[in-house]
Amino acid sequence: MLSFRRTKVAELTVDLHSHLIPNIDDGSQSIEQSVEMILKLKEFGVKKIITTPHVHPRYPNTPLLIRQGLSDLQEELSRRQIKIQIEAAAEYYVDEEFSQRLLQDDTLLSFGDKYVLVEAPFQTKPIYFDSVLFDLKMKGYNPVLAHPERYRFLEGSLDWILRLRESGVLMQVTIGSISGYYGTIPAKIGSQLLKLEAVDFLGSDLHRFAHLKYLEMGLKAKEVRKAIENEKVKNATLL
Ligand SMILES: [Fe+2]
Repeated sequence: MLSFRRTKVAELTVDLHSHLIPNIDDGSQSIEQSVEMILKLKEFGVKKIITTPHVHPRYPNTPLLIRQGLSDLQEELSRRQIKIQIEAAAEYYVDEEFSQRLLQDDTLLSFGDKYVLVEAPFQTKPIYFDSVLFDLKMKGYNPVLAHPERYRFLEGSLDWILRLRESGVLMQVTIGSISGYYGTIPAKIGSQLLKLEAVDFLGSDLHRFAHLKYLEMGLKAKEVRKAIENEKVKNATLL
């Protein structure tokens, strides 16, 4: 039997969830940190990064700010001759302000097939959440729910996730959840979703160096390898 250290990581090919633009959210705090984390993703077989800064009351990032940060980062990567595709979208926090903004301004940062990455508050499920996702679909976007396995209001139940997915919301499980970074419940829910083939994308949600070890362990986990190698997740279609 192969030891953990010698097990190879599954190649994700495209990572669609990370916080690698420095100093605009709670992710990377410097260009050096960003470069180091990008090199690590490259080592794990990532060929394209779609980085997703928070758009959140605490981090009110605009498309302009995100595009500027991306272009500075791209410039630094090319200066250091690091070859990797890097694009930016966003991780939208769905609150009442987001739903109001959606009414007036529907130019959201999306990727691939008009995918928009959204997250919910962790503690309490907002009553308006499902209807905002419906509004997004009406506007021609395909919502992707970030880390469904981590919402505490689920209390271990998969019902809400599976119901949303049936209504056309795509699910992005975080790889570090499977290896236990966020505790036992997210690990369990994440694995259950993978077993049910109810995961559309896997993502790193990389913010800081501490996440890398769990990302590596997650990429070596049997259920993650199976989902990637048997093309049960759509990450590679984003290349
Ligand atoms: Fe995130």
